Amino acid sequence: MSATRPPVDLATRLGPLALDNPIMTASGCFASGREMGRFVDVGSIGAVVVKSVTVAPREGLPTPRMVETPSGMLNAIGLQNPGVDAWLEHDLPWLVERGATTVVSVAGDSVEDFVQVARRLRGVDGVHAIEINLSCPNVEHRGLVFALDAEASAALVRAVRRVTDVPVLAKLSADASDVVGVARAVVDAGADALTLINTVLGMAIDPVTGRAELANTYGGLSGPAIRPIAVRVVHQVHHAMPEVPIVGCGGVRSVEDVVQFLRAGASAVAVGTGGFVDPYATESLRDGLAAWMADHGFAELGPLVGSTPPRPGS
Ligand SMILES: Cc1cc2nc3c(=O)[nH]c(=O)nc-3n(C[C@H](O)[C@H](O)[C@H](O)COP(=O)(O)O)c2cc1C
Repeated sequence: MSATRPPVDLATRLGPLALDNPIMTASGCFASGREMGRFVDVGSIGAVVVKSVTVAPREGLPTPRMVETPSGMLNAIGLQNPGVDAWLEHDLPWLVERGATTVVSVAGDSVEDFVQVARRLRGVDGVHAIEINLSCPNVEHRGLVFALDAEASAALVRAVRRVTDVPVLAKLSADASDVVGVARAVVDAGADALTLINTVLGMAIDPVTGRAELANTYGGLSGPAIRPIAVRVVHQVHHAMPEVPIVGCGGVRSVEDVVQFLRAGASAVAVGTGGFVDPYATESLRDGLAAWMADHGFAELGPLVGSTPPRPGS
């Protein structure tokens, strides 16, 4: 930041969770931090959201698992992770040593799976919050993804809320036909904040072979291609529930993208695919945001958050 710029306060809150700055990592795009440790000081990131953790280790889906698309990528990784016990033993200590604010993304096939992971995390030093990855198929409900159904999402959040003492973020999907309805349901069930959005379901086909390019046929679209969808969802949910803190996520690459999400109603943003392109993104976005705010007369985040008016007539 230039010496002539006035100081800017980047502190923000996600309900009970206080962050030094609003730039977070998105789950699955930062692993558990170690891989990125040689590029950035993980202790200076607003919060590190780790790759979703399940009860038992998972090897993930067959390859190919990633495909490049215009302004984005498709992935079908399948929640590859070492399982919560190994994660607590090998990955969390590294983050704790570096003073990271750690949000543990939790995944599973059933409400009981999520509850078991949340129980294992209870009272563990260095676990600052839980993010519930609602984009998981619910085996007890014909494999329907939790996030598509308000009732199933609320039941899951309620069950996790009961067994945890840290703030709970619920991560929703824009694939839901009524994402505001799902948002209301999970907040009523005890979510302290919302992460908006997970990837958008997509597909790519090899024109010559006619086969799906991903081994899993369908995958999650991420990157700038989904940013306008994510900004719209943040804006819609913010104006429906202005008191609920939101983490905006989807295609963040530049400082201007961050500002769009803040103006739409996000109190923080999470960088996913953008970190693959630029591993220094979290630091450069944090410093760039401070410079942008100083240049545009904002001394703190509050007046920016939700400053874009609601849709006329809504
Ligand atoms: C390779 C990859 C793996 C991901 N893994 C997870 C995951 O384990 N849990 C989760 O909640 N989201 C996961 N996501 C979704 C991201 O956290 C994020 O919501 C999405 O990619 C949109 O943000 P972006 O456009 O900045 O990437 C993953 C995304 C990618 C690209």
